[in-house]
Amino acid sequence: MVKTKKVAIVTSGGDAPGMNAAIRAVVRAAIFNKLDVFGIERGYQGLLEGEIKPLYLRSVSGIINRGGTILKTIRCEEIRTPEGKKKAAAVLKKHDIDYLVVIGGNGSFHGAWEIYKASNETINVIGIPATIDNDVAGTDETIGFDTAINTAVQATDKIRDTATSHERVFIVEVMGRDRGFLALQVGLASGAEYILVPEVSYDLVKMCASISNGYKHGKTSYIIVMAEGAGSAQAITHQIEDCTGFEVRCTTLGYVQRGGVPTARSRILAEKFSERAVELILKGEKTKIVGIKNDKIIVSPLEYAWKGKKELDEKMYKLLEVLAI
Ligand code: F6P
Repeated sequence: MVKTKKVAIVTSGGDAPGMNAAIRAVVRAAIFNKLDVFGIERGYQGLLEGEIKPLYLRSVSGIINRGGTILKTIRCEEIRTPEGKKKAAAVLKKHDIDYLVVIGGNGSFHGAWEIYKASNETINVIGIPATIDNDVAGTDETIGFDTAINTAVQATDKIRDTATSHERVFIVEVMGRDRGFLALQVGLASGAEYILVPEVSYDLVKMCASISNGYKHGKTSYIIVMAEGAGSAQAITHQIEDCTGFEVRCTTLGYVQRGGVPTARSRILAEKFSERAVELILKGEKTKIVGIKNDKIIVSPLEYAWKGKKELDEKMYKLLEVLAI
């Protein structure tokens, strides 16, 4: 009698809109293919505490349009320790889990790799990239990225109204601890005059000259979209005030970018990723991450997520300079 494969789903790291669509799709595809499926609550912390519960078709009703994750996610330091990894592997073993589906970002995938190793490579891992930062190599887009872009663009459009009324310069800080993918898209979509990203060092003198020149040529507002990882928005606000004499204000969009109703794009990406993840389980694949490249769903080795390189789109960065003249 062939053992029924048991699949456990965990959401880990920063939550992202669309995670629930992914949970729903993994559960439905797994049950459709006669797999037993379980949910691990509260990320790797919950795994260490044995918070594993069976999931059924109806467990995931009515969640496709909800932000956040019904399984919750807690940042977990213990999983980084050798004891933590072993304990996680032991808990999964005790629950007779064959596959761990990790919905999250790089750090979560790295943790899953460690659990795989600690289980003597008996508990297989499939990664589904979900983070608003989009900073996972092996995929052009992560679940939640499109939703966060739209949330931030709507907020930046509102900032443009008041910036124009007061003829002010605004720095709009968006999330993106290490990378500028979110800032670049938000800047382009909201018609920002400047984008500050961790990947490109900024030239304050050049930026101030661009601001002064813009106002000289009739601009009545100036928006700088800045990734939180590009520096201190407050410090840059004061530096620009000092060197241009204009009124400068700063708004940090913060955690609103992490919530909200997932866009159709984020939901459908979640469904496509999840379908492929279950296919990989049915084929008995060991450690893989799903992704999308040029609109095609692809599969990469799990470790590529953090070992691979993902460059900022130089052409899009240059396009902003052209459109903002
Ligand atoms: O990884 C996604 C992210 O939202 C980053 O953009 C942000 O810097 C970080 O999570 C915030 O982490 P936390 O939710 O633990 O404060």
